[in-house]
Amino acid sequence: MTKTNSILQDSFGRDHAYLRISLIEKCNLRCSYCMPEEGIQLSPKSHLMTCNEIYTIAKTFVDNGVTKIRLTGGEPLIRKDIPEILQKLATLNVELSITSNAVIIDRFIDILKANGVKKINVSLDTLDRDKFKQITRRDQFTKVYNNILLLIKEGFIVKVNAVLMNDFNENEIIDFINLTKDLPVSIRFIEFMPFDGNKWNMSKMVSYKQVMNLVNANFNKNEILRLQDAPNDTSKNYKIKGYKGSFAIISSVTNPFCDSCNRLRLTANGQLKNCLFSSTESDLLTTLREGNPIEPVIKKAVEAKFKIRGGMNTLKKLQEPKLHSQNRSMITIGG
Ligand code: GTP
Ligand code: 5AD
Ligand code: SF4
Repeated sequence: MTKTNSILQDSFGRDHAYLRISLIEKCNLRCSYCMPEEGIQLSPKSHLMTCNEIYTIAKTFVDNGVTKIRLTGGEPLIRKDIPEILQKLATLNVELSITSNAVIIDRFIDILKANGVKKINVSLDTLDRDKFKQITRRDQFTKVYNNILLLIKEGFIVKVNAVLMNDFNENEIIDFINLTKDLPVSIRFIEFMPFDGNKWNMSKMVSYKQVMNLVNANFNKNEILRLQDAPNDTSKNYKIKGYKGSFAIISSVTNPFCDSCNRLRLTANGQLKNCLFSSTESDLLTTLREGNPIEPVIKKAVEAKFKIRGGMNTLKKLQEPKLHSQNRSMITIGG
């Protein structure tokens, strides 16, 4: 628990115990909803946090109440020094987890286990190889699918993140749920969110309601169980009676869960984002490199956090391109 008067408590009384650290801006896939078609301007290498800087900043957060760290990217596993980063962060008293596209995760099973990583979230938007190639611009479906099976076999707790889009994968929702009959995974359907350069519009998004309408049309009412969500969960969790796995919806657009938000984000170039949708950032890395304490910068950033979606508190505001294009593209936030 964060302490009262903690630098991690915002003006609405929310305590932030969950830090998401993006390790790298690059990825080995090119998902259209995440990476702008024209690519992105990468930060010069010298502007990226080193392994030691990541550790120093993360430790400051842990000393102030963070209990959970999730590593993201881009694709975090393509960072060359990922073994050292995992080793250093594993010395902190936190739950360490990772969100990956799983293309190369089979090479990291031992190192993940050795550093106490137990929970892995994998992005996979379709069960069709051709569609996978279309959305990611890479032919890696079989690798990813087999790696999900491998992670389960190796005993990791696996969640699969599927960003839903109309006319792309909304017709696979039931197939995904059917996977949970025999596989102990949680499939999480994510409402497509607007970020710089991802050509978002409301009509592409598949809503929580749309998913549940489909579920209700395909399963008997008494088979659909609403599960208890964990505190601060991003997802509304369900299960089909008797199935090994479960499914969930992450409804950031139609049903935001900001009231219970406990998340802060650190970008690969050392900027603190107080919200996934924040248009402002606080430069922790420069402060650290200048030899100054980062706590006051963190405190100020946390205090300035908006109540809902970085100030885009209505659907109307979220739909204004001018507002969401002030944010980064998703590839450099890491989800
Ligand atoms: P758990 O730790 O397993 O609960 O995972 P998570 O949902 O925190 O992380 P993950 O990286 O798997 O993210 C899944 C989806 O949830 C992504 O699309 C994220 O962008 C979205 N998400 C995660 N955190 C937040 C958040 O604070 N706000 C919003 N709006 N979406 C979020
Ligand atoms: N909308 C919703 N989720 C997204 N992700 C990436 N881009 C978007 C978007 N535009 C998800 C990925 C990944 C997670 C970290 O963020 O599916 O699993
Ligand atoms: Fe937290 Fe912002 Fe996500 Fe809302 S949109 S849950 S405030 S990070």
